Amino acid sequence: MCGIVGYIGNKNCVPILINGLKRLEYRGYDSAGIGILTDDNAIIVKQKGKVSLLEEKIEELNLYSNIGIGHTRWATHGIPNEMNAHPHSNNDGTLFLIHNGIIENFHVLKKGLLKLGYQFKSETDSEVIVHLIDSFLKKGFDLTKSVQLALNEVEGTYGLAIVYSKEPDKIVVARKGSPLVVGIGDGENFVASDVSAILAYTKQVIYLEDGEVAILKKDSFSAKTIYDKEIEKEVHEITMSLDEIDRGGYAHFMLKEIMEQPETVRNSIRGRIIDEDGTSILGGLSDVVNELTDSKRILITACGTSWHAGLVGEYMFEQFCRIPTEVEYASEFRYRNPIIEKNDAIFFISQSGETADTLAAMREAKMKGALVLGICNVVGSSIARETNAGVYTHAGPEIGVASTKAFTSQLTVLALITLLIARRKNLSRVDGKTIADELKLIPEKIEKILKLNNEIEKIAEEFKDATNFLYLGRGYNFPVALEGALKMKEISYIHAEGYPAAEMKHGPIALIDENMPVVFIAPKDSTYEKIISNIQEVKARGGRIIAIANEDDNEIDKLVDYTIKVPQTIRMLMPILTVIPLQLLAYHIAVKKGLNVDQPRNLAKSVTVE
Ligand code: M6R
Repeated sequence: MCGIVGYIGNKNCVPILINGLKRLEYRGYDSAGIGILTDDNAIIVKQKGKVSLLEEKIEELNLYSNIGIGHTRWATHGIPNEMNAHPHSNNDGTLFLIHNGIIENFHVLKKGLLKLGYQFKSETDSEVIVHLIDSFLKKGFDLTKSVQLALNEVEGTYGLAIVYSKEPDKIVVARKGSPLVVGIGDGENFVASDVSAILAYTKQVIYLEDGEVAILKKDSFSAKTIYDKEIEKEVHEITMSLDEIDRGGYAHFMLKEIMEQPETVRNSIRGRIIDEDGTSILGGLSDVVNELTDSKRILITACGTSWHAGLVGEYMFEQFCRIPTEVEYASEFRYRNPIIEKNDAIFFISQSGETADTLAAMREAKMKGALVLGICNVVGSSIARETNAGVYTHAGPEIGVASTKAFTSQLTVLALITLLIARRKNLSRVDGKTIADELKLIPEKIEKILKLNNEIEKIAEEFKDATNFLYLGRGYNFPVALEGALKMKEISYIHAEGYPAAEMKHGPIALIDENMPVVFIAPKDSTYEKIISNIQEVKARGGRIIAIANEDDNEIDKLVDYTIKVPQTIRMLMPILTVIPLQLLAYHIAVKKGLNVDQPRNLAKSVTVE
C-alpha cells in the first residue's frame, strides 16, 4: 500500500507533489520520491524515511517543473532504502513511473527483461514495469500503446503513473486492483491514489476502474481500456472533508482496517498459491524450506494479538505438518533461558516488527543458534531484517492501535506456511488443493460477514453498559476467544476474559449470572456438540449469550439471545472468519461509550519498550 500523486499544468508541480505526499503518508512512510521533467530531462529525487526528509532534500535543489509524479512507499518487495524508493526509471533515464500494488509475475517478467539486456537497480517488483514499457517503446510504439501492451503481460495489482521525456505533454496512468483517482482542474490535471492528496486543488474527480488507462494532458483527459477500447468517464464532485477522506470515509481507522480485510487477506495470498500442486510458494522461506520441513519442533513467539495468531498457527502446524509446536509469550521466552535444540525452527510474529520483547526474544534465540524466522507486516523492520528468513503479511499500514487486519493476514500467512510444509510431508495434493481453494474463498466470505455490520451494531447497543464479558471457544476458536476478549478490553475498557469453553466449569462458571454476557464462538466443527452443552450450562444460569455460528445453523438460535452467522469454511481457516464479528462488536461498543477507538488510553501502536 503506497501513496501516489501526479500533476500536469502551468504551475510548479514540486510543492503540489510534496503536499500531496504529506497527505498520503498514512498509506506508507518508509521512503518517498518525486520525478519531474525539465526541458525534456527527467530529474528524480528519492529519500529513505519520511516525506519531510525528502522535502528538505528538494528545498536545496530549487526545482521547477509543470509535470511530475510523487510516491510514498510502503515496502512489499525490497527493503526500505533510496534505491527501492519510487519513481523507477528505464536504463537511459527517459521514462519513469510510480506504482502502488504487487506484481505477481515479476520474477518471470524480470527473467525475460534481463535476457533482453535490461539492468535492474532495485529489488522491487515495480521496476519490471518500467523496463517492460521501455521494451515496447523501443519497438516504436508510443507511450500510451506501450503502457497498454505492457499491462497485458502483467499479473497482479497496480495503480500507476508514468512520465516519458520524449512525450512531455502527458502523464499516462492505469489501474487494476489499487485505487486511482484523476482530479480535473482548469488548465491542469492531477492523479492520486486517493483524493486527499488533490482535494486542496480540485473537487472534480474521475475514478478509474480496473483495466483502465487514462491520458492526462494539462487541458484534456481521455481514457481507454488496456485493450484499447475508448471509454467515457463520469466526473464526480467530492463532498467529504479531508479528515473523513484520510480514514477512507470511515469514522475511525479501526473500522476502515476491519473493512479492508477482504483486500488485505487477498494481498497476503496474492501470487503465493500453486493451484496445480495444491501448495504455496513463499519466496522468503525458499532458502530454509528444507530445514523448516525437517525441523523436529516449531516454536512460535510473539506478543498480544500476534501471540493469538501464533496459537492458531500451533493448531495448524500440529494438525497438518505433524510437527510438535509450542507458543510462548516473547516476554517470557527472552528471560527464562529456553531450551533450544539443533532442529528447532522458531517463528517470531509481529505486525510492527519492532516490538521490544519479540525482538529481544528473537536475538536470544539467534544467539543460541536456532533457525529464526519472521512473520512481519512492516517490510525492513528490525525483526524482518534480523531473522534468517521470513514471510511478509502484506496487510498495509495498520494505524488503529487495536490490531485487526494484521491478525487476519498473519493467520493467512500461517495457513500458507502450513501448506508449504505439509505438502512436503504427508499432505496429499488433493487435500492441499482443498485448503488452497478454501483459502482463496476467504476474502469473499469476509465481505459477506462485513455486511452484518449494522446487525452487530444493534447487538453492541444492547451490551454497551456491560462491565464484564466472557469469550469461549474450542480448538481453533479458543485463540479467537482470547483475541475477541483482548479487542473488547483494549478499546472499550470493559473487563473481558477468553477461555477454552470446557475450562468454564473449572472456575469461570461461578461468574455467570444475568449480568454476564458470554460470547460463544460456535461454528459447526467436531467440537460443536460439546460447545452446545457449554451454551446450555450458561443458559441454565441466566447468562446472556451471543453466539458466532454458521449460516446453516438454525438450531443454535433457540438457545442463545443473539446469533451472528458466518459462512462455513474448513476448520483451520475458521478463525479468519469468526474473529471479524468480534472486532466489530468491540468497535461498536467502544464508539457507543464515546471512547477514543484508534488511540485507546495507555496503549501504543508499537511497544518498543519493555
Ligand atoms: O507489532 P506486534 O504485532 O509485535 O505487536 C504486538 C502487540 O503489542 C499487539 O498485538 C497489541 O496486543 C495490539 N494492541 C492488539 O490489538
